[in-house]
Amino acid sequence: MEGACSRCLLLLFLLTRGLAPEVAGEVEESSDGPDASQGPVWLTDVPAAVEFISAAEVAIIGFFQDLEIPVVSVFYSMVQKFQDVSFGISNDSEVLAHYNITKNSISLFRLVDNEQLKLEGEDIENMEATKLSRFIETNSLRLVTEYNPMTGFGLFNTLIEIHLLLVINKASPEYAENMHRYREAARLFQRKILFILVDSGIKENGKVISFFKLKESQLPALAIYRTLDDQWDTLPISEVTVEHVQNFCDGFLEGKLLRENHKAEEMTPKVEL
Ligand SMILES: *[C@@H]1O[C@H](CO)[C@@H](O)[C@H](O)[C@H]1NC(C)=O
Ligand SMILES: *[C@@H]1O[C@H](CO)[C@@H](O)[C@H](O)[C@H]1NC(C)=O
Repeated sequence: MEGACSRCLLLLFLLTRGLAPEVAGEVEESSDGPDASQGPVWLTDVPAAVEFISAAEVAIIGFFQDLEIPVVSVFYSMVQKFQDVSFGISNDSEVLAHYNITKNSISLFRLVDNEQLKLEGEDIENMEATKLSRFIETNSLRLVTEYNPMTGFGLFNTLIEIHLLLVINKASPEYAENMHRYREAARLFQRKILFILVDSGIKENGKVISFFKLKESQLPALAIYRTLDDQWDTLPISEVTVEHVQNFCDGFLEGKLLRENHKAEEMTPKVEL
């Protein structure tokens, strides 16, 4: 299958990184998570559940017919661990019916691509914390997702085929302002292009940067990648503006590649193939 195979290249640099034991936090503190001390939010009717899901970038809901099963306490422990994710819980028969839940299930709802990922079946009742935690870390894609070994795998779990990366050092003084504008631009391309942040201050991310043939001196930079055909392009930028991002994305969507960048590549003495 073409689509699956064309992802090999991206998968390759993801896999060569290996899995780091600790995973960096999310891009920014988001305010949509419930107060962790309160536990998950009880969703007692359908409108409450619908509103809860639409208000969060990432919502995890435990739909339980039986609250005595062991996974329920594991589920509660996740609320403490992922303070920037919204956790809801329901045992209301109408809510369960609305979401077509016939077995105990934990679902992740994402705003960025409108996906619902479900964990269900027999093994869920005794699911361990590490497994549930990994599911949440991997699949918590946001309006802007920070690249790390966990979310790197989650990037394959979306139907959005175009990924835009902002490669920038998070410790740089201009980071906050640029990130703010990048987020603004992300709203314009929601469900069309997945926005990713790559912290060039993290040594392991050097592989991602060299994949796009970017030099340290060219950062910060935008890189865009289409999983369907492995087409990609880059644009070094001194300042991120909504307009820059928009023009770059629109150009790529129209099939334009930035000539300079690709000419420069052809002129390098190293010839591939
Ligand atoms: C849901 O859980 C609450 C709290 O344990 C319980 O009082 C209620 O009867 C349960 N509802 C259903 C439909 O099982
Ligand atoms: C539940 O299933 C029905 C029939 O398969 C489908 O039309 C509906 O969209 C589903 N509801 C949700 C919330 O997924």
